[in-house]
This record gives sequence, structure tokens and C-alpha cells, in this order.
Amino acid sequence: MARLAPYLEQHKTYAGPGDARPTAIQVVEDQGLVSSSEWVGRVVLVTGCSPGGLGPETAKAIHLTGADVYITSRDAAKGKQIAEEIRTDGKPGKVEFIVMDLASLKSIRAGAEEFLRKSGNKLNILINNAGIMACPQGKTEDGFELQFGTNHLGHFYLFHLLKDALLASATPSFNSRVISVSSAAHRNKEINLDDPNFEKREYIPLKAYGESKLANIYFANELDRKYKSQNLRALSLHPGGILTPLARYLPTTQDILDDKDLYKTLKDPAQGAATTVWGAVAKELEGKGGLYLDEVSVAEPAPADVPYYWGGYDENAFNPEAEKKLWDLSLKLTGLSES
Ligand SMILES: NC(=O)c1ccc[n+]([C@@H]2O[C@H](COP(=O)([O-])OP(=O)(O)OC[C@H]3O[C@@H](n4cnc5c(N)ncnc54)[C@H](OP(=O)(O)O)[C@@H]3O)[C@@H](O)[C@H]2O)c1
Repeated sequence: MARLAPYLEQHKTYAGPGDARPTAIQVVEDQGLVSSSEWVGRVVLVTGCSPGGLGPETAKAIHLTGADVYITSRDAAKGKQIAEEIRTDGKPGKVEFIVMDLASLKSIRAGAEEFLRKSGNKLNILINNAGIMACPQGKTEDGFELQFGTNHLGHFYLFHLLKDALLASATPSFNSRVISVSSAAHRNKEINLDDPNFEKREYIPLKAYGESKLANIYFANELDRKYKSQNLRALSLHPGGILTPLARYLPTTQDILDDKDLYKTLKDPAQGAATTVWGAVAKELEGKGGLYLDEVSVAEPAPADVPYYWGGYDENAFNPEAEKKLWDLSLKLTGLSES
């Protein structure tokens, strides 16, 4: 099968943020979804929508299709601001904001209940976008390491609360999708399943981030394996390098700005949301899952010894045994059971 890479040409050279690489809005336009009514009545939920990040750009582009868009943020003021901005596009789809702290199972439960009530138990696409990177050591409300707990377990728990709605909304011709926003930071990492919460080993902030982002890929792969026969598919992805509030815990970003080769690879947030939106809406991905995307394409394995900011996936990104173990451990940690 030929590699799905509709924007290969635009990714041959990089000139930095705002260059020829597509934006999320260009992706929905190129899919023909802004001018059609195909997506009117479809329901999409995007987590982590705060100003300056990829979440708002993702939600804005998807709302242009006419779909109903639900956005979450742990901060009500930030989420309401983004919802207001999206509503200005004049499109028919609803825009609803739901407060949800992914570092609290109680808050996720309350947010999921509110979502199901407002959407009438309908959900076509779940976009697990929220994330936290390289924070000082800390714990979620339920005692999980903050990055593993927020980036992986929070979204794992949210998925289970919304699973029935995703399954009920899925059809053979329009499968439901779960999009797991991971990162190139998954490379050269292994999840320590004996100590996912860094209780028995030294906490290294970027290592914990990388493990949580590998968990995002494992989650999507295992989900796809379990539910594809019921028309529910999952994809994971690296959005690219984008200077957003995610970098708030890094000591400096000046080194990134000073490195000309690295700077040229950076995207702006509108471009940074393009791979997520392609994963969510692309017709050519219908009926596909368990894939890792980057550069608005199905990714290829990363060559050995490439810089950390390059695309491509690690050979360990597809590991059915570890994926199953992580799934089972995550059920146990969050107190869920599967029938
Ligand atoms: N930017 C990049 O270069 C890059 C590269 C690879 C992967 N990614 C991934 O892309 C995704 C989006 O990142 P971004 O660059 O847009 O970062 P961002 O601007 O910091 O956005 C992340 C979002 O996650 C939210 N979040 C963090 N902790 C949360 C919690 N406990 N509960 C609910 N929401 C929470 C943030 O809310 P607050 O505003 O309240 O903090 C924010 O809305 C992340 O999953 C990240 O790992 C980004």
C-alpha cells in the first residue's frame, strides 16, 4: 500500500513557522469539508483547549466542517474564551465548553457526564490533546505521577466513560475515531510498568514526559486492536515542534530559537494542529487505525541517531505485549473493569 502522505511536497524543506506546510484549516478545506454539509450533526470532543495551544486550532478547524464541537479546559475562563472565539465563524455546529481537570478522576467523571447529557450520548471523534510537559515532580489528585496521570491515565479514564457513546455513534461507513496526541518524545523510551509513577526511581522530568507520550501511542494501538471490529478506530501522532505554553517548565527556549536548523522545523499552532485534524477527518483514513502519524501523513520509522525533534516513530512504538500490559495496568490503577 502506498504511504498516505498528501502533503509530502510541502514537507521537503522547512522555513519555520508559517511556511508552506499546511494549517489545520487548510486540511479541512482540502478534504472538501468546509463547503459540504457532510459533517453537520457529527460530534467532536477536544481536550485541552487553552489560548496559545494546539487545542483551539484543532477545534476551530473542525468547527468549520459544521460539526458540533465540545472543548474542555481545566480553567473555565480560558475555555469560555476559546468557545467564544470559535463561535464567531458563523458555522451551524454547536460550540460547548466543559470544565475538566485531567489530573482528577472526579473532575473527568463530572465532565464526561455533562458532555453525555449535552450531546445526547453522541460522540464521533474524541481528540485527546491535553498535555503537560516536564513539570516538577508532582501527583494528581488520585496520587499518580502528574505527567503519566494527566497525559495517559486521565485520557484513558475519559475514553472509558465515553466508550459507549463512541461505539453507539459508529457505523461501518463512518467509524468513530479516538485521536491520541503523542510526541516524538516517545522515542528511546520504555514505560517502566513496575514503576509508572516514579516512586522507586529518580524522577527525570523529560523522561517522565517521554514515557507518558509512549503510553499515548500504546493506548491508541491497543484500543484499535480491541474495538476495530466494532467500527471504533484509534490513531496516535506527533504534531511537530511548536512553541506553545507547553514549554513553560523548560528552563529556556532561547536555545531552540538560536539553533537555525531546529528553528526551521518549528511550526505555528495553526500548522501544529494539522496532523491532528487530518487524523480526525481524513477520508483516506476511514477504516484505518493503529497507525502513528506525523507531518500530516502516516509516519515512517525514525532513522537511527536523528535529532530528537525529527519525525518518525521508534521501533518500540508498536509493542503489542507492552500495550496490553499498560492497558491492564491502567484499568487497575483507575479502578475500571471491562466486560
Ligand atoms: N507543542 C509541541 O511542540 C508539541 C510537540 C509534541 C507533542 N505535543 C503535544 O500536543 C498536545 C498539545 O500541546 P500544546 O503544545 O498545545 O500545549 P499547551 O498549549 O500547553 O496545551 C496543553 C493543554 O493541556 C491542558 N492541560 C494540562 N494539564 C491539564 C490538566 N490537568 N487537565 C486538563 N487540561 C490540562 C492545558 O491547560 P492549561 O492551559 O490549564 O495548562 C492546555 O489546555 C500535548 O499533548 C503535547 O504533549 C506538543
